[in-house]
Amino acid sequence: MSFIRSHNCGELTAKNKGEEVVLNGWIATRRDLGGLIFIDLRDRYGITQIVFDENNKKLHSLAEKLRSEYVIGVKGVVLHRDRETINPEMNTGEIEVEVTDLIVYSKAKTPPFEIKDQIPTNEEVRLRYRYLDLRRPELQKNLMLRSDVAHSIRKFYHEKSFAEVETPVLMKSTPEGARDYLVPSRVNAGKFFALPQSPQTYKQILMVSGMDRYFQVVKCFRDEDLRADRQPEFTQIDVEMSFINEEVIYSIHEELLSKLWKEHKGVDVSTPFQRMTYQEAIETYGSDKPDLRFELKIRDLSEIVANSGFKIFNSTVEKGGRVLSITIPGQGTLGRGALDRLTEKAKSQTGAGGMIFMKRMDGEVTCSVGKFLDDETMVKMADESGANDGDLVLILAGPTPDVYHQMGGLRLIAGKDFDFIREDETKFLWVTDFPMFEWSKEDLRYYSLHHPFTAPNPDDVALLDEDPAKVNARAYDLVLNGNELGGGSMRIHDPVLQQKVFGILGMNKEEAQEKFGFLLDAFSYGAPPHGGIALGLDRMIMLMAGAQSLRDVIAFPKNQKAQSLMDNSPDVVDEKQLKELHISLRKSALS
Ligand code: AMO
Repeated sequence: MSFIRSHNCGELTAKNKGEEVVLNGWIATRRDLGGLIFIDLRDRYGITQIVFDENNKKLHSLAEKLRSEYVIGVKGVVLHRDRETINPEMNTGEIEVEVTDLIVYSKAKTPPFEIKDQIPTNEEVRLRYRYLDLRRPELQKNLMLRSDVAHSIRKFYHEKSFAEVETPVLMKSTPEGARDYLVPSRVNAGKFFALPQSPQTYKQILMVSGMDRYFQVVKCFRDEDLRADRQPEFTQIDVEMSFINEEVIYSIHEELLSKLWKEHKGVDVSTPFQRMTYQEAIETYGSDKPDLRFELKIRDLSEIVANSGFKIFNSTVEKGGRVLSITIPGQGTLGRGALDRLTEKAKSQTGAGGMIFMKRMDGEVTCSVGKFLDDETMVKMADESGANDGDLVLILAGPTPDVYHQMGGLRLIAGKDFDFIREDETKFLWVTDFPMFEWSKEDLRYYSLHHPFTAPNPDDVALLDEDPAKVNARAYDLVLNGNELGGGSMRIHDPVLQQKVFGILGMNKEEAQEKFGFLLDAFSYGAPPHGGIALGLDRMIMLMAGAQSLRDVIAFPKNQKAQSLMDNSPDVVDEKQLKELHISLRKSALS
């Protein structure tokens, strides 16, 4: 039997005084003051204090047996609390409900951790007992935010004539740079589906089909190394449009994001968003996803030090490398110990071989490798770095592009350690003009920086034959406060050009036909020019909620080893199941 609730646990106020009400929920806390037993009753909507008075002896003795996390239903009367027990922090803080009837629906074992925000509980335990963790108000708030934002997103695209189309979860592998999750086919022995890393090829084919404007809130799967901002199973807001250019994608998504931030965070985001080319982002911030909430811009000292007395500088520049600096305002007084710790951090976190520092104090410039440099060079270096009196300059030397990435890492460390990040700012940024390919020194071949379907810049098409490394793509990333929130591009819609790009990626005609023949065929039956974008919904909610990890905004996330500890997956399956799937395991997998 269940009491049917008249109100939830978050809504009763002084206005309801004297009403008879019915509440259901979990016992958050129980305080036994002898004559009176107080219980905080919790549900998704909030907490209401309920009271058992000793005058009702039968109920009072039942209440003595209640414990945390029992699930109960109560009938009672809303009373105004005594003045001194009013809690202005809570919606329901002015009232309490004096219980007149009680049902205990379920007892509960003592939970392995307290159901409360900000409790230092081991994450593995929280993931194992996810249903308890999800009772915490903070996680419930995050899931509600996610639900509300997803609703606004769907409404937005529908109002702009986008059609939500579901694409297959069992598909042919699409390269997005990560490993696929594979699904064996029982009825096609030896053949496998891949779970989508993204619905990229399907959404392009929907454009060939004339769908014109597509979106989908869609699960994607990537078997890659996990970090706080990466899950093996995540959700994209996936979009594709025909007969458009980059500007259309930018303006629609600026409208969407500023709307979402206003509606769900009450934050005004100014549009249009800032834009920056990939090259500028790397050279100025050492990253293709720069955090613009602080300055610390990179300066290039290579020309100044190319012929200095310091061998490392000279040989770095001679070999085509760079000597870069950032200036930390007001930190010229930093002592040796702190600088050593910063150097160690830079080395271990960014891969830099070492760090050189320089100070401008009381008009004088000093440098950790000062004995190899003349005063004039040092002053020029400090000037070029924009160092004022009292400032500290950090210098890295090394081959490109590595040194830029190392400097980008050092910039982030310095931004955090010296508290330069303006946490209250929301800095969206479009990074544009990505190179089309990057050369892998290990595999001695080109890889796509985005994916193989990205269109080259029309001015660079001739370079595809001469020097693919110089070709820029019509690709863009959306960055928020140093996080990659989304990425997309204008696509190739000409089968001949697509074939050529596959060739540069090391796929011969037969291979391309075997892997992507369906797409090339589709393009040969009348493909509109098209382009699109995908935004990471999990990352968006994480940033909106101010959470530190995607795990805090996904109901049932995986841990760092891509396992779900609650239901113990992945797990072994029995021999019969494997046999049906035509699979036998290697010895190494059995141990
Ligand atoms: P991309 O690979 O850049 O583009 O992915 C788009 C966005 O998806 C999010 N994302 C992830 N979020 C959580 N965990 C992950 N493992 C993960 N991987 C990606 C990021 C990212 O910016 N098909 C193209 C889009 C297009 O060209 O239209 C694509 O998937 O926020």
